[in-house]
Amino acid sequence: MLKLSTFDLTPGMILAEDVLNFDRQTILSKGTELTDVLISRIELNGILSVYIEDASSEKKEEDTVLEETTEGYGPAPLSPRRDVPPPPPGSNAEYAPSHPSYSERIKSSQEFKDFKKTFDNATEDFKFKLNEMIESTAAVDTGDLLKAPLKLIEHSGSGSNTFDMIHNMRDYDDLTYAHSMNVALLNYVAASWLGWSEPDRELAMACGMLHDIGKLQVSHSILTKPGKLDPVEYKHIQKHPIYGYKILKEKGLDEHILNTALMHHERYDGSGYPLQLSGQAIDRFARLTAISDVYEAMTSARVYRGPLCPFRVIEIFEEEGFEKYDAEYVLSFLSNVGATYVRNACMLSDGREAEIIMLNKEKLSRPVVQCGYDYVDLMQHPELTIENLL
Ligand SMILES: [Fe+2]
Ligand SMILES: [Fe+2]
Repeated sequence: MLKLSTFDLTPGMILAEDVLNFDRQTILSKGTELTDVLISRIELNGILSVYIEDASSEKKEEDTVLEETTEGYGPAPLSPRRDVPPPPPGSNAEYAPSHPSYSERIKSSQEFKDFKKTFDNATEDFKFKLNEMIESTAAVDTGDLLKAPLKLIEHSGSGSNTFDMIHNMRDYDDLTYAHSMNVALLNYVAASWLGWSEPDRELAMACGMLHDIGKLQVSHSILTKPGKLDPVEYKHIQKHPIYGYKILKEKGLDEHILNTALMHHERYDGSGYPLQLSGQAIDRFARLTAISDVYEAMTSARVYRGPLCPFRVIEIFEEEGFEKYDAEYVLSFLSNVGATYVRNACMLSDGREAEIIMLNKEKLSRPVVQCGYDYVDLMQHPELTIENLL
């Protein structure tokens, strides 16, 4: 049995113990074989590490040639994928995409390279400011904090283009800073999609930047601890919204920023923490941030693949149910995510290439696609999914 950080999970691994959420409910049972979607679900529940069967002692009979070429667990032989990047250095996996994927094409564009450079500088600057904020009691100038991310929005626009950039940019060496910057940008884009005023969009951005500041007061050893957290450690992590609220309280900030730090883990149906607030009692900026936060966590980088296909992310939200989120916000968010990729080429799970033509309002993860001369309504074909964007 191995203890592995959630960041290091790959499809094909087998759970050696039940996976429990913060409420001690079992979300996945021992013996389950992990898939992309299940790994995202573990991430979605804020679980930092799990127990995995040791590959050397539990080698399965149906292992394929691909796995035999790797030590321990390599990338599992999934159905045809185009967005899997080459294996990391040091890996023996024989796996190479046949031609550049959608994500790889985005990443090689000059526009993306400029975006990433500005993003990295902004994150570095933000890291410095955030630590300064914790150490000093001085008032915080939100305008100063927003300069760098606003520059990013200015360059790439406030809508789908920025969204696509964020979606394709994933750093996994950073627990809080890049995550907060991504949530800030997603908040701005999501607020634009909802038609919020420019001051409210910027406020949403500031809320995203500071929502997890309380995490900086949770000891690093707990945040990165391999294996199961004990109840005391769970409680400590669950207090980061309260720590954040306390850090920000005396700094002359807008109350929505304080409320977002405190309430971004509250859920619309009352199932969140730390106060178990529900519905409209949760600040609207916190309700928006909850969605960007979960989206960001769910799509964060994995060593074995590029970003998760947006339609898979939408599907996970649909499976989990929308009742945890503000219905208006989550529908706006997901339908705009989907709309970003209408007219885009994609690959279906049966290996056929298609073009996304029209979203289905009742099931955003299952649009109508065109395959050659045929139109295929994925609502009518539960056996088919969109595997990747091309
Ligand atoms: Fe958080
Ligand atoms: Fe967060």
